[in-house]
Amino acid sequence: MIKDNVISNNVQNIEISGIRKFFNKVVNYPDAISLTLGQPDFNVPEKIKEAMIQAINENKTTYTSNAGIVELREEISKYLKTQHINYDKDEICITIGGSEGLMDVFAALLNPSDKVLIPTPAYPAYESCVKLIGGEVVNYNLNEDFSINFKELENLINKEKPKVIVVSYPCNPTGAILSGEDNNKLHKIIKNNEIIVISDEMYSSLCFEDQYYSIAQFDDIRDKVIAVGGFSKMFSMTGLRIGYVCAVERFMNAIMKVHQYNVSCAASIVQWAACEGFKSCMEDVEYMRREFIRRRDYLYNRFIKMGFESNVPMGAFYMFPAIKKFNMKSEEFCERLLKEAGVAAVPGSAFGIGGEGYMRISYAYSMEQLKEASDRIEEFIKKLK
Ligand SMILES: Cc1ncc(COP(=O)(O)O)c(C=O)c1O
Repeated sequence: MIKDNVISNNVQNIEISGIRKFFNKVVNYPDAISLTLGQPDFNVPEKIKEAMIQAINENKTTYTSNAGIVELREEISKYLKTQHINYDKDEICITIGGSEGLMDVFAALLNPSDKVLIPTPAYPAYESCVKLIGGEVVNYNLNEDFSINFKELENLINKEKPKVIVVSYPCNPTGAILSGEDNNKLHKIIKNNEIIVISDEMYSSLCFEDQYYSIAQFDDIRDKVIAVGGFSKMFSMTGLRIGYVCAVERFMNAIMKVHQYNVSCAASIVQWAACEGFKSCMEDVEYMRREFIRRRDYLYNRFIKMGFESNVPMGAFYMFPAIKKFNMKSEEFCERLLKEAGVAAVPGSAFGIGGEGYMRISYAYSMEQLKEASDRIEEFIKKLK
């Protein structure tokens, strides 16, 4: 007989993502409009599909090098340079989505009980990955506009002596971006402290300002920064599972060990497809960015007119309006919104304690769906008043 308690303590310590949990409930309401998912509603650009088919036909279906095909790593390196981020092809490892990248990085860095500063609210995987590996999560709160609260951050660094800090802009779930001024402040803190930054740049192609800021842009702290990126959002290829990690050699050697024993390499044909994306599909990327700005404008204006308080999302494709004034927990609010109004949004609490009092609306949906959902939400909150 196998004992009851066979599951590892670390796994028992984490839960299934609140986003998925809520998404599973939505299935029971077939007429509901779901604004829950974090994936663009655009098809994969044609040239990317063609390149993938061509790779199959040319039998490019064997293992690639662990780090991934040189051609793609060179394209990523060139692309990052346009964002003033300098990583050479040998400092880039192609992963199975940013998800694998994040897990590899945490596994490469953390010993049991090492502390990791994670913003709240944040993408839930950070906290779960850290716990899975046995690290200790220390949350840092954000300002009202979801920018970094530097005073609190400095206090926490002095008090808790964390090994790692996760920085995540453009942000899922808030849509906030890193300003130039905050980037400089962060740089100073990283420079003056013994701490490693994991910068999640998954939405870097979806920044609505002309200028993109990232902590990975400072060459003098390259030895303290690891950047994680990917193509799920950039090329709308969520299901094709491809991303990348960038880091200096010292980190990369360790990350590569985890990556190698975990997956060997990312899917060969998808690597060729992403490579073609850089060569032929940057206009598609720009089209999607503009379309998201148009939808953001529509949704934001509707919500403000309804009386919601919200920051203006400046990147990614999420809005994170406050629902505190309705005197309900975010879970209850979203349950009622689903049952009574037929609109699904993710409760802010799914993104950690800092998300309570908010809901996440994804606007990776058509204008028609956004309009209908807004009408339904308007009716719903009228009844609540
Ligand atoms: C902030 C953030 N980072 C990383 C990921 C992982 O993306 P993927 O594994 O699809 O590349 C996501 C996915 O939603 C995300 O929102």
